[in-house]
Parts: sequence; C-alpha cells; structure tokens
Amino acid sequence: MELQGKVAIITGAARGIGFEIARLFAREGACVVLVDRSGAEKAAESLKSQHYDAIACPLDITDAEAVHSAVEAVAGARARIDILVNNAGIIARGTVLDLTREQWLQVMDVNVNGNFYFCKAVVPFMIRQRSGTIINITSIAGKMGDITAAPVYGTSKGAINTLTKSLARQLAEYGIRVNAVAPHAIETDMSADWSEEKRQEVIAAIPLKRMGKPEEVAQAALFLASERSSFITGEILNVNGGQLMD
Ligand SMILES: NC(=O)c1ccc[n+]([C@@H]2O[C@H](COP(=O)([O-])OP(=O)(O)OC[C@H]3O[C@@H](n4cnc5c(N)ncnc54)[C@H](O)[C@@H]3O)[C@@H](O)[C@H]2O)c1
Repeated sequence: MELQGKVAIITGAARGIGFEIARLFAREGACVVLVDRSGAEKAAESLKSQHYDAIACPLDITDAEAVHSAVEAVAGARARIDILVNNAGIIARGTVLDLTREQWLQVMDVNVNGNFYFCKAVVPFMIRQRSGTIINITSIAGKMGDITAAPVYGTSKGAINTLTKSLARQLAEYGIRVNAVAPHAIETDMSADWSEEKRQEVIAAIPLKRMGKPEEVAQAALFLASERSSFITGEILNVNGGQLMD
C-alpha cells in the first residue's frame, strides 16, 4: 500500500473526482478526511462501512475560519497532515456576455480563495514535519482557455496553476511538493449538463475518443501523492485523453 499511515485531506470529496480520490487513497492505507459543503458524512460513512479510515468534514471551503479550525482539529486528532488535495470546484456556463459579476465572484471564491485557505492552513504543519504534498485539481481550461465553460472558470484554474508553481518554489526547501492535475471531460455531475450534441462534439476533439473516468484522475493524484513522484514538483499533469499535449 502506497499511503500507509498517511493523513490526507481531500476537498469536494462527497462525490465525483474527489470521492474517487478519497476512496483510492483509503484503499492505499491513508486516513482520509472528506471535506464537502454537502454530503461529507454520507460519503465518509460509505468508506467506513468498507473498513477504511475516513473522517467527515462538512464545511464550505470559502469560510476561511472554518477551514483553519478543521485543519487544526485534524492535526490535533491525527498528529500530522501529509497530503492535501484541493479538488472542490464549481463551474459557470455561457459566454462573457452572459457572465454576471456575482457568478464571477462566486467561482473565483470557491476555485481560488478556498484552495488558498486550505494551502495556508496546512502548510505550517507540513513545514514542521518537513514533508508533505499538495495536489490541486485544476483543468485543461486553465492552460488553454475555456472550451465548455464561462471565461471565469478557466481564469480561476489558470490562477491555481500559477499558485501551484509559486508554492512549489517557496516550499521545496521544507520537503513539501506541490503539483496539480489538469483533467478534461470527466464523467461526473459537473459534465452531466451537456447536451448529447455537446458531448459528442467534446469527444470528437479528444484523440482517445471517449470521456475520462473519475478513477483515472484519482490515479494521477495518487501518483503525485506517493513517493513514486518524489522528484516532481510544480508539475501540472494532463489527464485529458490527449486533447492538449504540452
Ligand atoms: N468533471 C470534469 O470534466 C472536470 C474537468 C476538469 C476539471 N475538473 C475539476 O475537478 C474537480 C472536481 O470536479 P467534479 O467533476 O468531481 O465535480 P462535482 O461537481 O461532481 O463535485 C464537486 C464537489 O465539490 C463540492 N464543493 C463545491 N463547492 C464547494 C465549497 N464551496 N465547499 C465545499 N465543497 C464544495 C461539491 O459539493 C461536490 O461534492 C473540480 O475542481 C473541477 O473543476 C472537472
């Protein structure tokens, strides 16, 4: 087992990609803390019923104080924090013409600010341990601009790509690695609102000619969380069926 004895916090873990990451990390021996604004308890219970070590952490990641308290509580209970996966995210659809100021602020608040609050809260513990890995789930849109979303989504993910590299540079001296996974077209609730026509259009542009599965993103996150990636930091790993090769 690759994560035996590790403590991993995963945001947006009640469903979709986040839940698959929690499940895979638990299977690999980690204690997983499932953060979500809804459904965290149910998701944690389903892992506990399979005899995995799981903790529910119901909170909204845009609440900086709640994030700080939750991280302190996890560190108090488990004495360490080895892995943070910033996965929680939201999307907005449409063009710049439809996009409202409220939507802009909401997407930036969750996708950028919430991610920062969690990094800020865990880093002091990781510095003390002189080890840790942070994995941010961004998007192909953060590298090439929005394909299926409103222009705030890609902007928020581009900001996270830059945060990933900045933290990777600043935290390397403490043995902390910071990487990201950039998925595209993964079968989850987030992509479920596409019309069949849109879905076929998206698939046609992907060299592997299919949508991805949440488990395929989870496997990339596991690689970046594990010792197998011990010389990798500041990387933004594509999981996109070949749509973007950079
Ligand atoms: N599905 C895709 O095709 C795709 C592609 C590229 C990137 N991503 C990214 O992957 C990540 C996971 O996406 P998904 O497809 O699993 O989405 P999803 O909508 O199925 O799950 C997102 C989870 O995050 C939680 N969440 C949202 N806002 C929150 C908040 N403020 N506080 C706490 N929890 C919150 C939701 O409750 C939900 O459980 C996101 O960051 C998304 O941008 C997804």
